[in-house]
Amino acid sequence: MIKDFGNGKKGEDVKIHSLSDVQTKAIGEHTTIWQYCVILEGARIGHNCNICSHCFIENDVVIGDRVTIKNGVYIFDSIYIEDDAFIGPNVTFTNDTYPKSQQGKPREVATYPRTTICKGATIGGGATILPGLTIGQGALIGAGTVVTKDVDPNTVVYGNIIKPRTDFDL
Ligand SMILES: CC(C)(COP(=O)(O)OP(=O)(O)OC[C@H]1O[C@@H](n2cnc3c(N)ncnc32)[C@H](O)[C@@H]1OP(=O)(O)O)[C@@H](O)C(=O)NCCC(=O)NCCS
Repeated sequence: MIKDFGNGKKGEDVKIHSLSDVQTKAIGEHTTIWQYCVILEGARIGHNCNICSHCFIENDVVIGDRVTIKNGVYIFDSIYIEDDAFIGPNVTFTNDTYPKSQQGKPREVATYPRTTICKGATIGGGATILPGLTIGQGALIGAGTVVTKDVDPNTVVYGNIIKPRTDFDL
């Protein structure tokens, strides 16, 4: 049985460990958030989710119902995860295709392409999902895979191929 951590409760039977900083109030019932998570004010999280320790969830993030987020996952703006998805440990999400440090420049409001992890999809541990992709309903991404293209529903993909790129100016 999961104990009631007794602080920061947002709704019916929401359990938030006292070692986490959870700013959103949009958390569905029976969801549990374990230690050392930081969840920002704009995030929306469904019911019966399990968010394991050491996760970060930014503002423009929507997580459906019955979603499992394993340890050490950072979910940045513009990433949407539908019902019953499973996100393995240390999955890396990205939202900016050509990132550059903005230090010393006026801050711009960033817009990012939306990434969607569709209903019931599973992302294996340590996979990297490039920005703006859709992982189809029920798809399975193998551990450690770098996903560079949309994945069709109910499809298994895995593995990596590195390619030298000579036609690109940084
Ligand atoms: C992709 C996956 C579902 C395939 O499972 P499987 O069908 O049992 O695969 P097998 O172990 O029979 O391997 C089949 C082949 O694929 C390769 N392979 C399997 N998973 C791979 C992966 N993630 N990346 C690269 N190659 C992989 C194997 O090396 C093997 O290659 P070979 O035929 O040349 O020997 C599984 O390996 C996987 O990655 N599951 C996710 C695990 C995970 O992250 N869980 C998170 C919760 S802890």
